[in-house]
Amino acid sequence: MAPRGFFVGGNWKMNGDKESLQRLMSSLSAASLDERTEVVCAAPSVYLDLVRSGLDLRIGVAAQNCYKEAKGAFTGEISPAMIKDCGADWVILGHSERRHVFGESDELIGQKVAHALASGLAVVACVGEQLQQREDGTTEEVVYAQTQVIAENVTDWSKVVLAYEPVWAIGTGKTASPEQAQEVHEKLRAWLRANVSDDVADSVRIIYGGSVTAANCRELASQGDVDGFLVGGASLKPEFVDIINARA
Ligand code: 13P
Repeated sequence: MAPRGFFVGGNWKMNGDKESLQRLMSSLSAASLDERTEVVCAAPSVYLDLVRSGLDLRIGVAAQNCYKEAKGAFTGEISPAMIKDCGADWVILGHSERRHVFGESDELIGQKVAHALASGLAVVACVGEQLQQREDGTTEEVVYAQTQVIAENVTDWSKVVLAYEPVWAIGTGKTASPEQAQEVHEKLRAWLRANVSDDVADSVRIIYGGSVTAANCRELASQGDVDGFLVGGASLKPEFVDIINARA
């Protein structure tokens, strides 16, 4: 079986303007990037077109969310078809900010996963526990339940990357230790083995997100079940290149 390729996503969230994103894109496009790393940047939807035309083609482009329908009376939403029309190939779904700031349910996230895949987008599907859940010892239960709903809606696992993002580590500067990340990634892979297939367990990239920086990425990347990162704050800074090259 081919080894799982390293995957680094930059989630720009609701940041940047045309000028600053042009600067960021110029520096990324000119950077020396490990060719073995698959890199995808998730831009605010209004800039998808600009970002796809400004970013070197070595780098994929993702939307940060989409709706579960192709078109219609859904004011404020965007469809996978629109994302593809802007030249982007990926979408992030189930991000903790969608779950906890905007109240998206597991069920809605599952429907979005199904529709995005059916529309030909690849999906970064996110799971992760909140601090209270970790302290209550329910981390496994929470991430398994979230993964279950995603799995029920996946038709082609070769188009899915699973992102483990503990909510307490997002934007807090409080990274999961390499051991904490590895422990959950290993369990998620075992869950995929038991509930999907050996093939999927061996091939799906499980990436870590939550305060990843140039300073902590190498140790995290050395863990056997950490196949890359989903990076928020640091993806807007020059150090994103060091994170992309964490295994170089
Ligand atoms: P930070 O890297 O800013 O903690 O954000 C992580 C994240 O939410 C990536 O999707």
